[in-house]
Amino acid sequence: MRRREFFKTSLVAGGSLFLINKAYPLKFFPNPSKHKWAIVFGTRYGSNRDAAIWISEGMGAIADVFDARENPDLSSFDYLIVGSGIYYGRIAEPLEALIKNNASLFSKKVKAVFVVCGAGGTDRAKQYLENLAKLCEAEPVVMRSFPGRITKKLLSPDDFKLLEEFYKKRNQPFEDYDNLERRECLQLGEEILKKLVQP
Ligand SMILES: Cc1cc2nc3c(=O)[nH]c(=O)nc-3n(C[C@H](O)[C@H](O)[C@H](O)COP(=O)(O)O)c2cc1C
Repeated sequence: MRRREFFKTSLVAGGSLFLINKAYPLKFFPNPSKHKWAIVFGTRYGSNRDAAIWISEGMGAIADVFDARENPDLSSFDYLIVGSGIYYGRIAEPLEALIKNNASLFSKKVKAVFVVCGAGGTDRAKQYLENLAKLCEAEPVVMRSFPGRITKKLLSPDDFKLLEEFYKKRNQPFEDYDNLERRECLQLGEEILKKLVQP
């Protein structure tokens, strides 16, 4: 048998479905748990995706993680955690649309909210969290803000221009920053686990 054929046959025989089934780009596979948890996030540049995955890891990886842009069907989940970046004072538009289009589902199931934003950890971020809870028409048990990040080369031309002007007006340098800490996101996941999953 030629080397390439042997390799292909062995992998399929070994049960690796990834070779024959649809491949998912970075699909997050949660661990089983009594209740089904989902984390749904709104992001433009990825920091909320990272935070969402780390929060799930802190929960023992029992929460499935969805980008709001995928318009996920969340009806089979028992509980939801919702998080977003903040852009000119507002959450990511696809998340806002998802919440508005599934209002009763969100109001029944949301147990925690988070934001990852420039003002993370400040009173302004508290306001963003309250706005997000209000939009969900929920009373989350846990609300947390995290400081975020900017990667200039990822910004859309519009966002780049607006942020450039923002910093120029304030006589501040417009530079990359990265203040999001995995440890803090894991801690939030652990807190949710203790308060809500195994009280
Ligand atoms: C165009 C733009 C506008 C922003 N506006 C705000 C804002 O009003 N308040 C704030 O706290 N952070 C603001 N930020 C910071 C983001 O919330 C922060 O970079 C966050 O980490 C972005 O999340 P993401 O990487 O998941 O998209 C802004 C960032 C961008 C790019």
